[in-house]
Amino acid sequence: YENPPKICCLGAGYVGGPTMSVIAMKCPNIKVTVCDLNERRIAAWNSDTLPIYEPGLQEVVEEARGRNLFFSTDIDAAIRECTIIFVSVNTPTKTSGIGAGEAADLTYWELAARRIAAVCNQSEDKKPKIIVEKSTVPVKTADAMARVMQASCIGTDFQVLSNPEFLAEGTAIEDLFQPDRVLVGGPTTPQGHAAVQCLANVYRRWVPTERVLTTNLWSAELSKLTANAFLAQRISSINSISALCEVTGANVTEVANAIGVDSRIGPKFLKSSVGFGGSCFQKDILNLVYLCRSFGLPEVAEYWHQVIVMNDWQKARFARNMVSSMFNTVSGKKIAILGFAFKKDTGDTRETPAIDVCKALIEEKAQIGIFDPKVSREQIYLDLGKEAMDKVQIEDDPYIACSGAHAIAILTEWDMFKTLDFAKIYESMQKPAFMFDGRNIIDLEALEKIGFNVWGVGKASNILPY
Ligand code: NAD
Ligand code: UDX
Repeated sequence: YENPPKICCLGAGYVGGPTMSVIAMKCPNIKVTVCDLNERRIAAWNSDTLPIYEPGLQEVVEEARGRNLFFSTDIDAAIRECTIIFVSVNTPTKTSGIGAGEAADLTYWELAARRIAAVCNQSEDKKPKIIVEKSTVPVKTADAMARVMQASCIGTDFQVLSNPEFLAEGTAIEDLFQPDRVLVGGPTTPQGHAAVQCLANVYRRWVPTERVLTTNLWSAELSKLTANAFLAQRISSINSISALCEVTGANVTEVANAIGVDSRIGPKFLKSSVGFGGSCFQKDILNLVYLCRSFGLPEVAEYWHQVIVMNDWQKARFARNMVSSMFNTVSGKKIAILGFAFKKDTGDTRETPAIDVCKALIEEKAQIGIFDPKVSREQIYLDLGKEAMDKVQIEDDPYIACSGAHAIAILTEWDMFKTLDFAKIYESMQKPAFMFDGRNIIDLEALEKIGFNVWGVGKASNILPY
């Protein structure tokens, strides 16, 4: 393979954009081109207002952009020029047809594969290509990719690798700078091995060698789904216990701490919450569930499906608790929602629990005031649908969002919420004033002293049930 290998990536989203920017920053002598079909997205990557918010991303892009990092809509030119072609397109859950609601929709992915094959086929110089699955895909997708290539791309030597991405939003740059591991799966042939080494060597420029793991293709593909399933399972497990805490007088934060110090369990991903959100957990678990069913393993499918069932229950339970503790009606009452993003330090709202909670409250005819420091007004209206327009007011100031409200629900753990002046907020609210902390970030005792009726997930409360 050419050394250093030129790199391009199809898909300039939450994964493609930050990942390629970090590769370019860490490897100044490698040319990296990030492509997308979406012209507006590429224009934004080339502007001062990047299309996604991620702490530290702006600095990384500014260092490398124009030097060895390029954002372009000329996908064919990038495919022709590059040795390593990442595919980081979206792979959402299918909404119709076979496997609807569970299986991964591979439409975008297959279009990308076919485009790579067509361009390589037409290209005169037949330099070898390494095609890298960066998107999260079902196990065996690399096989499909290879078959598409074989069928329509004659004369070009290519290898298909799986290199799943483990970054989390909000900490993407940190995660990419110092990943727990980089996983590269490839065919167990000498040619496959060479391709794996070529890609692994790119990461080894800044990631310690022992953290660059190499496996066979199917292990890499399955590890990604498994990692997300395990992480989400921890949240559903602690959330299930949160319900038990509420009725027994145990405190879920104390329980999480007590079990988390056991090194076999570990302290991370044990924060009880209104439920997990984000574009990955639900989609990837459903994908795993579908895969298990397809391979004739219904018990395994059902086991993992419970992680989703518990999460849906937790979101619904949160909204139900709000209504029941406010004397079984929120009709016509203003409720302030603090935080709409699925987690802090991102403007992303995909699968955010805030959508479920707001929709449930709207169904109960509440009036909603929403404040989120990073999510745009347009996005919130898009997520809640047109029918929400007259029920939802979006504010740029948390104090205005809470003014005149009967209750506040904290749905994202933004740091700024911890330092709000709750005495001032209390004064501006209807009484009795309620606080529902869906993230356990507020000192509820202090709020109780101010006069609030308080409820935190997994905390015993005297306001529940009414
Ligand atoms: P995204 O929707 O933000 O970005 C995908 C981009 O691909 C879009 O901009 C879309 O226009 C573009 N695209 C679609 N088809 C294309 C084509 N044929 N050619 C060029 N561009 C094309 O999605 P994302 O969040 O970046 O996720 C991408 C993949 O990475 C998914 O499979 C996801 O499961 C996985 N993943 C996501 C995360 C995360 O935190 N978001 C983390 C790990 C893995
Ligand atoms: C996740 C994985 O962490 C990452 O490795 C993978 O590449 C993509 O999917 P992401 O969805 O971006 O990342 O964020 P994550 O930090 O995992 O949070 C997901 C959801 O779980 C958020 O809604 C978060 O608030 C919630 N969460 C997380 C909890 O409720 N409790 C916890 O203890 C941790």
